[in-house]
Amino acid sequence: KRPYVYVTRKMPAKMINILESVAEVGMWESEETPVPREILLEEANKADGLFTVLADQIDEELFQAAPNLKVVANLAVGFDNIDVQAATKRGIAVCNTPDILTDTTADLAFSLVLMVGRRLAEAVECVKTGNWTSWSPFFMAGADVHHKTIGIVGMGSIGEAVAKRALGFQMNVIYHNRNRKIETEKALDVSYRSFEDLVVESDYIVCLTPLTDATKGMFSKEVFRKMKNTAYFINASRGTVVVEEDLVEALREGEIAGAGLDVFHQEPIDPNHPLLQFPNVVALPHIGSASVETRGAMIVHCCENIAAVLKGETPVSLVNKEIKC
Ligand code: GLV
Ligand code: GLV
Repeated sequence: KRPYVYVTRKMPAKMINILESVAEVGMWESEETPVPREILLEEANKADGLFTVLADQIDEELFQAAPNLKVVANLAVGFDNIDVQAATKRGIAVCNTPDILTDTTADLAFSLVLMVGRRLAEAVECVKTGNWTSWSPFFMAGADVHHKTIGIVGMGSIGEAVAKRALGFQMNVIYHNRNRKIETEKALDVSYRSFEDLVVESDYIVCLTPLTDATKGMFSKEVFRKMKNTAYFINASRGTVVVEEDLVEALREGEIAGAGLDVFHQEPIDPNHPLLQFPNVVALPHIGSASVETRGAMIVHCCENIAAVLKGETPVSLVNKEIKC
């Protein structure tokens, strides 16, 4: 019997034809709406492989309903929507899409640096709404980016790619990471700081760390209080690395100069959320890796990972390397 793979979001047919050569393929009908939980569980029950997105919770309950499941390929570098430990216990391969999206995501993170520093969203709005009146010395004057200090929290491959962009803007680049990256320090002109020192010294903090028990809520009241009042906070990792109420308070109290956010606790964020009421907050709809080229490559990569596991091979992007494929 041919294996069955369920794809939880509508994907272009020509991008998933690799899958069709190894399995029967079922696919959720919508590009925008997440698959309802009951349908996901029903499909998982039949599936040898699942092609998932960040909106799908892949947990113990799902694994219990999926006796034949061998592989879950997530269309993202992050996999905090998947209970990897539970998958590993059952010998299910978990795959992600690292590397392919590194430069695209770094471009977006660095765009947020420019947007918040130079007040680009406010400036665009001002022109469109007829509020560009006359020239005045400090009209829409923001903060410089060049020669400022950028503090990168989470120095994985995306962190390194942001560092390269920052060095091109002649910024002073400091970073914090669980493990110090001596090779990176040699290859790039960047230096390590404790988290506390990074927070105090940075003009722009860019958070790119994965969501783990250790990083959940790491940006809290105390951290925002230690930041310079002129500093900006940028988050392109996961919403829950920040205590959002504390960020709101820091913005309200002027503890920091502004924030650039691609991720939130609740996605999509409620348009009435207090964070969206500040002119010095730039909010984006979680589009870090969203270029046509990169998303296409990510989709193909997920299919290749699933096909590899179904053929009994080790997939290129295996998260839980301890399992046997
Ligand atoms: C997006 O957030 C990703 O993890 O790829
Ligand atoms: C924090 O920066 C981490 O990478 O754990």
